[in-house]
Amino acid sequence: MNRRHLLTACAAAGLLASASLAQAQEKFRIGLILPMSGPFASTGKQIEAAARLYMAQHGDTVGGKKVELIVKDDTSAPDVTKRIAQELVVNEKVQVLAGFGLTPLALATAPIATQSKTPLVVMAAATSSITEASPFIIRTSFTLPQAAVAMGDWAPKNGIKTAVTLVSDYGPGIDAEKYFKDRMEFNGAKILDTLRVPMRNPDFAPFLQKVRDLKPDAVYVFVPSGIGAPLMKQFAERGLDKAGIRLIGTGDITDDDILNGMGDVALGVVTSHHYSASHNSALNKKFVEAFQKANGGLRPNFMAVGGYDGMRVIYEAAKATKGGSGQALLDAMKGQIFESPRGPMFIDAQTRDVVHNIYIRKVEKVGGQLFNQEFATLKDVKDPGKTK
Ligand code: PHB
Repeated sequence: MNRRHLLTACAAAGLLASASLAQAQEKFRIGLILPMSGPFASTGKQIEAAARLYMAQHGDTVGGKKVELIVKDDTSAPDVTKRIAQELVVNEKVQVLAGFGLTPLALATAPIATQSKTPLVVMAAATSSITEASPFIIRTSFTLPQAAVAMGDWAPKNGIKTAVTLVSDYGPGIDAEKYFKDRMEFNGAKILDTLRVPMRNPDFAPFLQKVRDLKPDAVYVFVPSGIGAPLMKQFAERGLDKAGIRLIGTGDITDDDILNGMGDVALGVVTSHHYSASHNSALNKKFVEAFQKANGGLRPNFMAVGGYDGMRVIYEAAKATKGGSGQALLDAMKGQIFESPRGPMFIDAQTRDVVHNIYIRKVEKVGGQLFNQEFATLKDVKDPGKTK
C-alpha cells in the first residue's frame, strides 16, 4: 500500500469509528410527564418508580440506542402538561411522551401528539374517550367503563337492588356513573340518585349525609387515586356502615398505595378493578417484591402497573423498530400481547386501548395487612365505551 492509499484507508477507518461512536451515543428519549407534587403526587411517585424498575430490570439500551428517561412534574395542571410536552418534543426531541396522571392532562396534550406525530402512552388517566383524542395515543392504564360494567353485573346478583352513585365530577367519574347506572338498570336494579363531588379538595360529608337519608342498599363510589382515604373515614364517621349501607366502587377507592393505612373501616369493601397487589401470579409476586425492595417497602398500586406495562410497550416497540419514532414506533406498540403483573393484557390495534381482565375483589386482612383479595374474574374485557 502506498502512502496515499494508506491515508485514504486511515480516513475511512476514522469515519467508520466516528459513525459508530455517534450511533453508540444516539439516544432513545422518553418524556415522562407526571404529577409529582400536590394531591395526586402519589400517582407520579408510583409511575416513576415503576418506570425506573422496568429499566433496572431490562437495561438502558434498546434497539441499539441508550434510553434516556426525562421525568417532569406538571403539578397536575393541564396547561403545564401541554407546555412541558411541547418543550420535550421540540427541544429534547423525545421519541415518546408518557405518563398523564389525570384525564384533563392527557386531553390537553393530545393535539401535541397529533401535530408532532409523537406516540403518547397514557399510563394513568382512564376516561374512555381519551384514546379518541389523538390517533397517536396508546393506553396501558384502564378505562372506567371496564370496571363499572363489571360491578353493575355483580351488585344486583349479590343483594344490591338499590344504589346511589357518588363520583368525582369530571371525565372518569362521569364514565363510572353512566356505565354503572345503565348496567344496574339493565339488570333490574334502581339508582336512587347520582351525586357528583368536586374533583379537587372534596368535602364528602354533605354527600354522604344525603346517601344516608336515601337509604340505598349500597353507595357506588369513584374518586381518583390518592384521595380515597378521607372518603372512607367520613363513610364510617357518618355511620353509613352502621345504617347497613354497603360501600362498593371501582378499585380507585381501595388503592393499594393507601389501603393499609385506611384501617378496619375498609374491611369488606367490594370493588372491581384490573389490578391488586395481591394478584396471585408468579410474575406479580416478583414485581411486588422488586418494587418494594427498590422503594423502601412502598406497595405498588394500579398506577405503578400502568407505568410498568407502558414501559414494556415502549421498549418492545423500540426494539422492533431499532429505536424508531413516529408512525413506525406507534404501529409497533399496537397489538402487543403480554403477561402483566395484572394478568394477561393486550393493546387492541384498532382502538389503541388496553384489553385485560377485570377482577371483583373484597378488602380482607392477610398476614395483618389489608389487601384487595380477588375472588371473581371477567376475562379479556374491552372498553365498553368503544363498542358503540
Ligand atoms: C383520571 O383522571 O383519568 C383518573 C385519575 C385517577 C384514577 C382514575 C382515573 O384513579
